[in-house]
Amino acid sequence: MITFDNVEKRYPDGTVAVDGLSLEVPTGTLTVLVGPSGCGKTTSLRMINRMVDPTAGRVLLDGKDVREQDPQTLRRGIGYVIQHAGLFPHRTVVDNVATVPRLLGATRRQARTTALEVLERVGLGAEHARRYPAQLSGGQQQRVGVARALAADPPVLLMDEPFSAVDPVVRKELQQELLRLQSVLAKTIVLVTHDIDEAITLGDRVAVLRPGGTLAHYGPPEDLLTAPADDFVADFLGTDRGVRLLSFFPSDDLPLRTEPVVADGGHAPSSGSWLLLVDADRRPLGWRDITGALVPAGRGFVPGRDPVRVALDAAVLSPSGHAVAVDPDGRVLGVISQEQLAGTIRALHAARSTDTERTGA
Ligand SMILES: Nc1ncnc2c1ncn2[C@@H]1O[C@H](COP(=O)(O)OP(=O)(O)O)[C@@H](O)[C@H]1O
Ligand SMILES: [Mg+2]
Repeated sequence: MITFDNVEKRYPDGTVAVDGLSLEVPTGTLTVLVGPSGCGKTTSLRMINRMVDPTAGRVLLDGKDVREQDPQTLRRGIGYVIQHAGLFPHRTVVDNVATVPRLLGATRRQARTTALEVLERVGLGAEHARRYPAQLSGGQQQRVGVARALAADPPVLLMDEPFSAVDPVVRKELQQELLRLQSVLAKTIVLVTHDIDEAITLGDRVAVLRPGGTLAHYGPPEDLLTAPADDFVADFLGTDRGVRLLSFFPSDDLPLRTEPVVADGGHAPSSGSWLLLVDADRRPLGWRDITGALVPAGRGFVPGRDPVRVALDAAVLSPSGHAVAVDPDGRVLGVISQEQLAGTIRALHAARSTDTERTGA
């Protein structure tokens, strides 16, 4: 567990970067520090591994004040990943990663073996290991940065804007990769970002900091979206907060209709406008409109796997205004209209706000 206990950092020029910060990061969970530029995220992160020392208050790692620990020893248990990976340009990828186990006393051979293993773990095979950083894409370089941080198998991982320098598509991939790794490794991670979407995607808990380095809100992303602490937090979350919240509603119980679904060549009821034609295996062939034209059914949603947000997106994008529910193998289960979805979403929101009132969260 990492504990910030009323921490302040005042730089020598008088800038107060962090002010009265108290929060706990439970062991094995991922906390995101998010907020506008200059609100003290990097400073807070660096107080954990003593790259910066607080001017008041304490940072505790598993109950021990980090200032009572030797920085070198402390950092052996704390991986650190930064925006541009910070790789040595004149060392191969495998040597970059092997540096860490070497520092910890492994032999060259052991270090190399460890390096190849962690590279594999972040999705980089032996063919990448021999290259130099400049010969990799930005996304691959970030993977190497993550591999290097993991090479010593530290219980704690600090990540400062680790994915901010790569393009949006690769960024999403790296986010999913991190979630996958974390589900296996269960490290105690503190990740800094200025991107609220990234914070909501990655964080078990999200800490929103405001300029001046004070904590505006700390809690699970759903709570943040449901009940932001104040106007600053609500503004920071943006106008599509309600839609984002739908990512946390499961779609298992959405009421599905089957009467607009007809087998190709089967009897189609004459009334009604749109019909979803399916093949003998119940896979969607497309929507047939009143003129008889067939329009692609588009992406559906899988109840139980996808959240309500995916169903809503599918309904909004569908020519018929209906989202198609499919099983994991792509067979049609039924459809739901935008209007039905809207009704269900209203009910879900109402249930959630009564929950929140009851628990006082
Ligand atoms: N070494 C430093 N000396 C003086 N001021 C600093 C120093 N490092 C950061 N600051 C200031 O502290 C504030 C917080 O910085 P930082 O922690 O880097 O914020 P963030 O990571 O949220 O962008 C900013 O106003 C920044 O200019
Ligand atoms: Mg920063």
